[in-house]
Amino acid sequence: MDLEELPGVGPAIAEKLREAGLNSLEAVAVASPAELVETAEIGEATAAKIINAARKAANIGGFETGDKILERRKDVGRLSTGSKSLDNLFGGGGLETQAMTEFYGEFGSGKTQIAHQLAVNVQLPVERGGLDGSAIMIDTENTFRPERIKEMVEGLKGEGEGAGEGVGAELDYEEVLKNIHIARAYNSNHQMLLVEKAGELAEELKKKGAEKPVRLMIIDSATAQFRSEYVGRGTLAGRQQKINKHLHDALKFADLNNAVVMITNQVMVRPDAFFGDPTRPIGGHIVGHTATFRLYLRKSKGEKRIARLVDSPNLPEAEAVFSVSKVGIRD
Ligand code: GTP
Ligand code: MG
Repeated sequence: MDLEELPGVGPAIAEKLREAGLNSLEAVAVASPAELVETAEIGEATAAKIINAARKAANIGGFETGDKILERRKDVGRLSTGSKSLDNLFGGGGLETQAMTEFYGEFGSGKTQIAHQLAVNVQLPVERGGLDGSAIMIDTENTFRPERIKEMVEGLKGEGEGAGEGVGAELDYEEVLKNIHIARAYNSNHQMLLVEKAGELAEELKKKGAEKPVRLMIIDSATAQFRSEYVGRGTLAGRQQKINKHLHDALKFADLNNAVVMITNQVMVRPDAFFGDPTRPIGGHIVGHTATFRLYLRKSKGEKRIARLVDSPNLPEAEAVFSVSKVGIRD
């Protein structure tokens, strides 16, 4: 079915939608009315009508019975951050698989440090807070540091009863590095392509019967490339559309691989805020609605950081204090 077959969409409107990247029924179905109003220069009511029709035609928003979902949730795994208090924000145990968790906050708030720690911890056995898996990291800011991984591995070795008997006693630094697959993303299109590639790599490892299948995908940062490439109001709808697709691809990865998807996001200062915290995450509601869990990180004294769970499907808003120390993320 073509866009032109949607009620209210003539050739001229279809053309405008395609130009803005809304080139399929699926894309229109998940667009917001405001986006359509802006890109196609139509009224709010027409926009809503078009979106509803696209949703029906694309079969988006279909039903699944609760027992099927419960069945799938039985497989949900947990990945520890290294900090009990931070893990507790997720209801204990850490980040969930089959979900996307967003960490947003200003520079130095610890987003990249948490990403490194998760890439190490995912390799631990399940009974030690890991997922016995490997990690994929899409590094858009060139901030991956193997040296930091080394410190974290050593940190895990030294914990527990006496040195060398920590939760990571069996980890080998070089093996750990081999189980972190890193790709630099040079621009937003490349970044989107890398999620596809991540899916292929995960599939390949599964087929080979790899000892450590991919159980974690990190995108650090998920939004920076988009932000720098799309400047000015005129291209905002196009940008949001792309971020939306990108994040949904990432979420699909989480489902297909029973994996944790962790993304980071910067904040910008809202010039019109008179009260409260003037910062807000980039990407606005598009990122917010796609991420299953959203955490806001703030700097505190020295190594201390404060994390606030601002959005989750079944947990209350809550705060936790953790620290970024030499050995990694800890209470
Ligand atoms: P942006 O990417 O710039 O938005 O920031 P971010 O949130 O990713 O910050 P990141 O995770 O890189 O945190 C950087 C902070 O972590 C530094 O300011 C340090 O406080 C801390 N940090 C980084 N490396 C080390 C380390 O080796 N030892 C210790 N103790 N702290 C570190
Ligand atoms: Mg960073």
